[in-house]
Amino acid sequence: MSVKTKVAIIGAGPSGLLLGQLLHKQGIENVVLERVTPDYVLGRIRAGVLETGFARLMREAGIGDRMDTEGEVHDGVEIVVNDRRHRIDLKGLTGGNTVIVYGQTELTRDLMEARTRSKQRTYYEVSNVQPQDALTNKPYVTFEHDGARHRLDCDYIAGCDGFHGVSRKSIPDDCITEHEKLYPGGWLGLLSETPPVNPELVYIKHARGFALCSLRSQTRSRYYLQVGKDDVVEAWSDERFWDELKRRLPEELSAKLVTGPSIEKSIAPMRSFVAEPMQYGNLFLLGDAAHIVPPTGAKGLNTAGGDVHVLYKILSLVYGEGRTDLLEKYSDICLRRVWNGQRFSWWMSNMLHDFKDTSAFELNLHTSDIEYHLQSDAGRKVIAEQYVGLPFEKIE
Ligand code: FAD
Ligand code: PHB
Repeated sequence: MSVKTKVAIIGAGPSGLLLGQLLHKQGIENVVLERVTPDYVLGRIRAGVLETGFARLMREAGIGDRMDTEGEVHDGVEIVVNDRRHRIDLKGLTGGNTVIVYGQTELTRDLMEARTRSKQRTYYEVSNVQPQDALTNKPYVTFEHDGARHRLDCDYIAGCDGFHGVSRKSIPDDCITEHEKLYPGGWLGLLSETPPVNPELVYIKHARGFALCSLRSQTRSRYYLQVGKDDVVEAWSDERFWDELKRRLPEELSAKLVTGPSIEKSIAPMRSFVAEPMQYGNLFLLGDAAHIVPPTGAKGLNTAGGDVHVLYKILSLVYGEGRTDLLEKYSDICLRRVWNGQRFSWWMSNMLHDFKDTSAFELNLHTSDIEYHLQSDAGRKVIAEQYVGLPFEKIE
């Protein structure tokens, strides 16, 4: 069967769904193709912290209401080094900027409901998706659905299919450069129906490994522990997780920690990755399809939001004013923000984790570096400015 649209979007994660909704608001028809079921997409427990810019984009897409009523605005975060708690006053240090704690699951649910209301087409459980003829002005995507082969003709293809997706892999090797750094460790996350140990997020540097106390609401907590590269979830009973977390928390927090059965437990690898350019003719890469950060700076989803903003603005001008000259600027504009997010995530990760491949000399430098930043007004301001996120760049 043959289908036609303006923009073919591969992947129904936050990047694909948000782009689809923003384009729809501009009257630009689009089709989303997703490999798995909606429930599977919603079952992946990932991001929790939204930058001001991402939240603004959700509102611009007309889907910020639940985020604004149920999400929690956080004016600060804590960083613990040598058992000493340091508060970063995000709001005070950035002239009023904050972050919103609102889970990626909830955000994706809002996006899925908006998509249903928009009546734009979405095909879930597709297979053998393949972008085709991206260098021509008649690109198309082939895929299988319900046992039939389909062809989706379009003007542009948006590759929003995550790190393991097909879009980036469809670009010839000599037209793309991949930069990668793997860290010798991962994050074991646990979600539980328990009140959070602290009203604000707490990032902890500890000799036994990094830990993070995060939350989804005042009754639901999300905790993370740095674990070894080859660690497996099965080796971590809930009891072992809570015991280890208590050992890494400062005493006043470990005394307050409320434990309970896990609702979800999973290990996320720590990887820095950038593919450039983020464009191959009329195929554009967005979000995790083009770049990955270790979760320490809470930058993954937020950087994806930057790409969505750029492509949505460019395509609005293409369809609204015929400004096709802007298309070639996509990758350069995105990459400036992407590399900034990479640098901050890499820095936060190195400052707060003790990785096995780090020399004692470098570990001492990291401790000195983070302590300097936490004790100086200028240092705290740098962290705050990066954590709330840099503003989206103007298209021209
Ligand atoms: P994805 O969410 O990966 O979505 C891609 C979609 O494409 C998926 O639904 C996939 O099924 C689909 N797909 C894949 N291949 C194909 C194919 N061949 N055909 C069709 N569809 C396909 N970021 C933050 O900003 N803040 C945080 O606090 C934060 N915390 C995190 C904590 C953890 C534990 C993890 C793992 C990540 C965290 N992130 C965070 C990162 C964030 O979750 C990701 O950056 C975000 O999911 C990227 O969205 P995306 O839509 O680009 O990619
Ligand atoms: C989360 O709540 O899942 C979360 C928060 C902050 C991070 C990473 C993950 O840096």
